[in-house]
Amino acid sequence: MRKPIIVGNWKMNKTNTEAIDFVKGIEEVLHDEADFGIAPSFVSLKDANDQANNLIIAAQNVHFEDSGAFTGEVSVEMLKDLGIKWAIVGHSERRAMFNDTDETVNLKIKQLIENDMYAIACCGETLEQFEAGHTESVVRNQVAGMLAGLDAAAVKNLVIAYEPIWAIGTGKSATQETAQATCAIVRDQVKKLYDQETAQAVRVQYGGSVKPDNIKEYMAQPDIDGALIGGASLQVDSFTEIINAVK
Ligand code: PGA
Repeated sequence: MRKPIIVGNWKMNKTNTEAIDFVKGIEEVLHDEADFGIAPSFVSLKDANDQANNLIIAAQNVHFEDSGAFTGEVSVEMLKDLGIKWAIVGHSERRAMFNDTDETVNLKIKQLIENDMYAIACCGETLEQFEAGHTESVVRNQVAGMLAGLDAAAVKNLVIAYEPIWAIGTGKSATQETAQATCAIVRDQVKKLYDQETAQAVRVQYGGSVKPDNIKEYMAQPDIDGALIGGASLQVDSFTEIINAVK
């Protein structure tokens, strides 16, 4: 049985003070039927993590090198030193604006795994690719690229977030059928690359305009094990509704 995992991706939102208040409010409503987390900005990771008991505090990115001349970047060692064990990698905004590719995402996943940390690795097609009917090939290629050279044991611990780019921040969520179909493709690709056991272990999230009023539909799908949530994770009220809906 895969335990559901719901993570709020805050992007470039909330100050440190706001992050601390949020974690205090959310800790009270958590339950153990799913894993819950948030990914605040780097500057809030320490205080958010100090405030958290059960809430996972994840970074939104990490660099794949140990250290060096990479101005503005953050290493796994720096995250570990704060007690952070999770990072989102390859979000479509990072791919579009900050040059993340399947190759660099692959290196980031490897760096996290080598350091006993956990990755939420993102994939998803553009609107153009979706309309041209290329979703399956795009997602299969992304998954193969991101997982290149990883062994099955590492992949079993991975979370893969399928986020159609046209559904992110647009209010235009994928239908439950579309989300289920593509999350099933992600899992099938893991099966092709590894085996049935690995495919059944990996957790696949859907992301893109997930809200309190549609989370249940997604969670009812057999291949959707959780959600990566942007906008609706920013308010304690709406994130609480989502947490309660996952019981
Ligand atoms: P959204 O963002 O929920 O605001 O669409 C999702 C994401 O980017 O992870």
